[in-house]
Amino acid sequence: MSVVVTVGCQWGDEGKGKIIDFICSEADVVTRHQGGNNAGHTIQVDGKQFIFHIVPSGMLKENTLNIIGNGVVIDPFILIEELDDLQSKGIQITPSRLNISGQAHLIMPYHRLLDGLEEERRGGKGLGTTKRGIGPAYMDKVARYGVRMFDLCDETQLRKRLETVLPLKNSIIENVYGGKPLDLEETFQSLRTCAERLVPFVTDTTDVIANALAQGKKILCEGAQGTLLDIDYGTYPFLTSSNTTAGGVCTGCSIPPMKITNVLGIAKAYTTRVGEGPFPTELYDEEAQRIRTAGPVGEFGATTGRPRRCGWLDLPLLRYAIRVSGISGIGLTRLDILSAVPEIKVCVAYQLRGETRKVFPANVNLLGECEPVYETLPSWKEDISAITRFEDLPATAQSYVHFIEESLQIPIMLISVGPARQQTIVRKNVF
Ligand code: IMP
Repeated sequence: MSVVVTVGCQWGDEGKGKIIDFICSEADVVTRHQGGNNAGHTIQVDGKQFIFHIVPSGMLKENTLNIIGNGVVIDPFILIEELDDLQSKGIQITPSRLNISGQAHLIMPYHRLLDGLEEERRGGKGLGTTKRGIGPAYMDKVARYGVRMFDLCDETQLRKRLETVLPLKNSIIENVYGGKPLDLEETFQSLRTCAERLVPFVTDTTDVIANALAQGKKILCEGAQGTLLDIDYGTYPFLTSSNTTAGGVCTGCSIPPMKITNVLGIAKAYTTRVGEGPFPTELYDEEAQRIRTAGPVGEFGATTGRPRRCGWLDLPLLRYAIRVSGISGIGLTRLDILSAVPEIKVCVAYQLRGETRKVFPANVNLLGECEPVYETLPSWKEDISAITRFEDLPATAQSYVHFIEESLQIPIMLISVGPARQQTIVRKNVF
């Protein structure tokens, strides 16, 4: 048995989808345990592009069981669209390949509406959410106003939940935001239509996971977003509403902590972020644009299409990510993009109030005062996107990788040099 957890080390968009797809070939079970369709995992196989939002990317590999765990928030309308899209691309969608936790909470139509209305209310001072209803759905889960997949499957229960919750939501929509209330019957009927399609997939996934563990299966837990977007450890309040760090696997997919065998942190060879919030190594103007537009896939959000903010690699941030998730190895992505820059800077520490800090501060209110301390390393001009062996990388690219490993005291197990599966350099086995 082995359980590999993948965690985004930065602000999401680290290229987790690509790495997860690569290591999926060894997994029997692939799970999602947090987030919802704010995520967008882009995977290219044989020239075809797949973007996964809610469904685990193990669906691309035959003979894997894919589980959407209880910690995920599910927009049933979007999930159905995603399943239809995958099916139209030849992916087999059956309950023997996909299980959905009945304990997972739904993103209801009013959650989407409220997310948008709240961002609008905040004017220019919003969080820059994806407006997919993620925050409002998690708020209701914690406030015990949530509606779960098990409720969706039960007509009587669904109506009861809606009768309890919708009047309150409508009152907020109308009286706080001046929005248009939702009709209970219409909402109920549209959800019932979703239920017809989704019921066959809904089950007790705690049972499925326990059996998989007992049978010694290889389980891959697919993290969405990244460490700095974690509700507890991230750059509060500019973050998402779930635990994106390794602990989220235990509460979001019933994996007992002692069963985790490896935590693979996925980090870009530089840093990006979308949405608002602090970003110490951020670059601007042409410098940012050079990174944003290099390579076959530019730095634009897979879910929202927004241009990503770009900056240099931040080692204090990575040390923090390693610390809070117990990361045991790194998958380094988009190394090929750095062919486009004349020289590479790496933030090795922060200067804060006269002190040198090696680790990102938990008190993110101090981030504005953190001055990055940079080391400059030589770049390489060569196109490295076809290289599949570490020894064949230009010496300067190898040095860059060694520099990161030595600074972080952690192995870089995989290196991605392009979006396709075969554009991956394996240095150490993950499973
Ligand atoms: P929410 O998750 O839609 O509530 O958005 C909260 C913040 O997290 C915003 O800054 C989003 O841009 C960011 N975010 C959410 N999901 C992702 C992701 O998958 N990649 C990168 N940023 C994300």
